[in-house]
Amino acid sequence: MALRVLIVDPDEDWLDKTASLFKEQLYEVEVSSNGKDAQVKLYGGKFFAVVMNYATKNHSAHQVLKFIKRAVENNPRVLVYIEEEDVGDEDDPLDKKLRKEGVDEVLIKPFEIDVLLAVLEGHQGIGDLMNSLPKRKGQKPEEEISMEDGSFTAVKITEFYSLKAVLFDVYIKLSSGRYIKFLHSGDEFSKDRVDKYKNEKGVDYLYFHVKDRKKYIKFNDHLAKKMVKSDKLDSKNKINMLKNVTEKFMEEAFQEGIKPVIVEQGKQICETVYSLIESNDDLYIHLRNYQDFDPSAFSHAYLCTLFTASIIKQFEWQSKTMIESASLACMFHDIGKLNLDPELLTMRPKDMNEAQLEEYQKHPIYGVDILQTNKSITQPVKQIILQHHEAFDGTGFPSQLKGQKILTLANIAALADQFSHIIIEQNLKPVDALKFILTQADIVAKFNPEIMEKFIQVFVHPNKIKRDRVLPGKSRMVPSKKAS
Ligand SMILES: [Fe+2]
Ligand SMILES: [Fe+2]
Repeated sequence: MALRVLIVDPDEDWLDKTASLFKEQLYEVEVSSNGKDAQVKLYGGKFFAVVMNYATKNHSAHQVLKFIKRAVENNPRVLVYIEEEDVGDEDDPLDKKLRKEGVDEVLIKPFEIDVLLAVLEGHQGIGDLMNSLPKRKGQKPEEEISMEDGSFTAVKITEFYSLKAVLFDVYIKLSSGRYIKFLHSGDEFSKDRVDKYKNEKGVDYLYFHVKDRKKYIKFNDHLAKKMVKSDKLDSKNKINMLKNVTEKFMEEAFQEGIKPVIVEQGKQICETVYSLIESNDDLYIHLRNYQDFDPSAFSHAYLCTLFTASIIKQFEWQSKTMIESASLACMFHDIGKLNLDPELLTMRPKDMNEAQLEEYQKHPIYGVDILQTNKSITQPVKQIILQHHEAFDGTGFPSQLKGQKILTLANIAALADQFSHIIIEQNLKPVDALKFILTQADIVAKFNPEIMEKFIQVFVHPNKIKRDRVLPGKSRMVPSKKAS
């Protein structure tokens, strides 16, 4: 059953064009060119979403919104788009008013239809995804296809989870450009069949289309949220599960750009990271020995996020919001590298010439630039990204800040960053990477000693740790109003 969408706009040409683009994405579409007709349609049938022009007449957008609140039972997601001149001033923004009236998303014209589609997709929960599936008993026969490797993304076969019905097509790679579609979206999931491929045919990875990555992230985040709280799974599995979601999420962010939907999803994942850190006392055992990372930027971002959250957890003053902002900053800390010459990304800083190094050292600034217009990324998150290469002894970049001038959370993120580089580049277990760091005086000098101390505690049994109750030194947690 496809998801139904009602599009309301006085411009009939636009309606036609948009309706056919939505249909291509497998939505079932109804259109209305006025508010009265929209209400009749809303009364008659269940919609997943209503997409409406603010300029709707003959029952205005406000009247239709009131009607939805009062008379429409299934709570459709509501997206309204407005003209730039209707935005209103800062004290009285239309956006705020509309949200009070039940609008979930406000878009400002002009926008690409793709943005509209992406925003709606962001609102689909697991239930909506399930509802839109063509479910069937058993499985369709396998088929072989030829397709570019770049349109696929891989996941370890041992770490592939599914609902009863498969959410998207799943493939096995035969050779470069050749794949077997072995599960079709809507097929009944068969663990036995997956195990057979793994055990008898030695298949290590399953593949799916890059366009289905959002569904993968959504489902696995949903699963991870449940699993991190379960006693049936050990911490190692939980860390792994969250790693898979985060890596696919980072892949999506780097390839699709930082769109509002992506930031929202990032926040969700950070919440899950928080629950993992919060509710698993045996985590320290697994953090000591965990070593299941590829040398990819995506793995790096996850490691960094996980260790930052774990270090903050050691401080008495930590809070959920703090861990979540620092985690979000860690996920995006190197996003500024998108603006660098790709050649620089393959080089180590010590092999760069002066001009290259100067350019490389701007990536924290570029990162903040990229995220600047994104309203849901707060100032503290941006400041952590900006300062993630500053060092306690003043040898960092881009501003050579020193000591207490550096935000505590940024110095923690810097430590987690350097630590995860060492784990991946030298292929060390975390506990061995820690030993290595402690023998390098120049590395140790880059971090606030109290942060180093808490960092060591990450690997120690929580009962052996005496909690401290003060902030490290006089350091600031978040930028003061002035600084922002
Ligand atoms: Fe960086
Ligand atoms: Fe980094």
